[in-house]
Amino acid sequence: MAVDLLLGLQWGDEGKGKIVDVLTSKYDIIARFQGGPNAGHTLVFNGRKHVLHTIPSGIFHDDTVNLVGNGVVIDPVIFKKELDKLDEQNVDYKKSLLISRKAHIILPTHRLLDAASETAKGKAKIGSTLKGIGPTYMDKTGRNGIRVGDVELTGWKDKYRALANKHEAMIDFYNVDIQYNLKELEAEFFSAVDTLKSLKFIDSEEYVHQAQASKKTILAEGAQGSLLDIDFGTYPFVTSSNTTAAGACTGLGVAPNSIGKVYGIFKAYTTRVGSGPFPTELFNEDGATMARVGHEFGATTGRPRRCGWLDLVALRYACQVNGVTELIMMKGDVLSGFKSLKVCTAYNYKGDEITHLPYNIEEENVTPIYTELKGWEADLTGMTEASQLPDALNGYVEFLEKELNIPITVVSVGPDRKQTIIRK
Ligand code: IMP
Repeated sequence: MAVDLLLGLQWGDEGKGKIVDVLTSKYDIIARFQGGPNAGHTLVFNGRKHVLHTIPSGIFHDDTVNLVGNGVVIDPVIFKKELDKLDEQNVDYKKSLLISRKAHIILPTHRLLDAASETAKGKAKIGSTLKGIGPTYMDKTGRNGIRVGDVELTGWKDKYRALANKHEAMIDFYNVDIQYNLKELEAEFFSAVDTLKSLKFIDSEEYVHQAQASKKTILAEGAQGSLLDIDFGTYPFVTSSNTTAAGACTGLGVAPNSIGKVYGIFKAYTTRVGSGPFPTELFNEDGATMARVGHEFGATTGRPRRCGWLDLVALRYACQVNGVTELIMMKGDVLSGFKSLKVCTAYNYKGDEITHLPYNIEEENVTPIYTELKGWEADLTGMTEASQLPDALNGYVEFLEKELNIPITVVSVGPDRKQTIIRK
């Protein structure tokens, strides 16, 4: 059975958690394949809001298996907090939550290193979530990392100590003012590792292979977005993993020829949190309205998100890199009330009009070229059927479909599970 993918196509925060939750009833297994607690996947149902960071978004459905794949990096302390929240809501995850032995562990010193590295960068800082993601992936590729499977082995604490000592020396090297009490952080960390050990660790690539062979349906849930991909994103203002489709192959052990549908999810406008170029960013009342109406604050850090018009040059690029087969448009409701809407269809790049994403999209090289479309007034949040959608919104959606040559099958009109309109 093919594995379907659900990926964010912008700079993250597209609403992947909600859509995975909506789609979960169609799948036996939901699997995370990259990133870690830098993600914040928000789900709203029965009048409650739930934010997941590392745990897959299928966890609230009783019959779904939730797999944390080998490509994910896990902070046991944050993971334990997520489990505590699930306990409070009587979610029985003991059987349904599986963790790859090959997933890497974020140590307390990885978090400290992230902070030291960002502080040392000064104005050039990435705007990292400071969850230790970058340093953990650096240790993975540097072949120094500690993996989930290691904590089942005797002597792993010696390996831990050697690595933590090295990290402390590196923190000193940065020569910045980072205050910490490692003893306290370690006490919390080792206690959280014990909690982690009470869960099921598996050889996940074998599990996925067997699940495919026995015709189980699997949805791979991406974190962050394509423009934050370590290779294809706006480097260096990116995260440290492959957020694009290929990341699902390396992060789960899925063969490329067994990828099925690729759901690409995007907001009806664009947001970005952290530093880095953003050609369609708005610094006026329109941007402020998007931020206010769309509650554009980071689910992990609470930082305000930068807002701007939809950028089809970037979206087209993301669709290409991922092989998107179906598009899902989020937050259409936030644009209600705009008299007209702008969509960037090309860039003026050093005097030439181009429609592909160039190497450098910094402000001095790129000016967006916009097409203006009619806005709509109606409040969409109570709508449940495609036939209720205003003509101008249909016009907006059809314009995007034509530009991208991919169908938009779902339009989301609010954060709740129920506020989801299936178009075709
Ligand atoms: P890091 O992955 O925490 O180091 O952050 C690197 C960059 O990716 C920063 O600009 C973050 O704001 C951004 N980033 C990381 N995770 C997310 C996410 O889940 N949503 C949006 N931006 C993110």
